[in-house]
This record gives sequence, C-alpha cells and structure tokens, in this order.
Amino acid sequence: MTRSILFVCLGNICRSPTAEAVFRVQSKGRGLEIDSAGTSGWHDGKPSDPRASAEAARRDIDMSYIRSRKVVASDFSRFDLIVGMDAQNMRDLKAMQPAGSPARLVKLLDYAPGLGLSDVPDPYFEDNFPEVLDMIETACAGLLDSL
Ligand code: 4NP
Repeated sequence: MTRSILFVCLGNICRSPTAEAVFRVQSKGRGLEIDSAGTSGWHDGKPSDPRASAEAARRDIDMSYIRSRKVVASDFSRFDLIVGMDAQNMRDLKAMQPAGSPARLVKLLDYAPGLGLSDVPDPYFEDNFPEVLDMIETACAGLLDSL
C-alpha cells in the first residue's frame, strides 16, 4: 500500500515541485503524504522557479508554499515511493539509498507510456514550462491510477 510519495529532480525548483503540486490536487482526499526534493541541494530554502509557478497558477495549481530541499537519507524510510524525473535522478537516488531501505524507486514517465518519452526534459534550461507541465499532469494521473 502506498501512503507517501516523494517527487525528485535535480534542483527541486522546476519539475519535482510541479509534480508535487499537481499530484496534491489530483489526489486530494486520498490522505497521501506528498513532498518533493532535489538531488543537488543547489537551491536549498528557495521558492520554485517563477516560470514553473506562473504556469501552474495559470491552471489554478498553487506552488507558492514549496521551498527547495535536498534529498536526505531518512526520505528512503519516510516515503513508500520515490519518483524521479529522469535517468540521472534515478542513478543519483540509487547511489543515495541506504542499504535495505524500503522505499521503491520509480521514474515518472513510466506512468505515461503514450508520451513515448523516458525522461521529463529539464525546463530550467529548455524554457518549455507549458509542455513539461502537460507531461507531468498526464504522468501524475497515470501514477494515481496505478495506486
Ligand atoms: P529541476 O531544474 O531539476 O527541474 O528543478 C533545474 C533547476 C536548476 C538547475 C538545474 C535544473 N541548476 O542547474 O541550477
């Protein structure tokens, strides 16, 4: 049974906080614990990228409460499911996971096979926030269906 989900990307200011906010709306009333974090810690304590939060706000999704934080070892026992955005996130998460910890590591776009993509592209550099939000909404809906 999945009760807690952590979304993870590199900076925790674009993709994973977007997934956190989208999934919180989609799963409302299910009693799930939802959070996000980054593998890098480069933006610790900072709000999400304003380009991400503006695109989310256009769709009535609030990201203003989210502050960036780094993945910590206790996340691997606190969360049942840890959802990475790309292959590099998955490699970094596997390297950080304490031996024998119970969290299951999965990649977000595995829940949206129709998109024909394996990784959520990084909008921080590509500046394609609407397209990335579309992908995240589709894949989060698939993830929710799978629970
Ligand atoms: P995110 O995007 O991993 O989706 O939050 C990035 C944000 C910041 C940087 C890279 C990716 N950065 O290099 O600072």
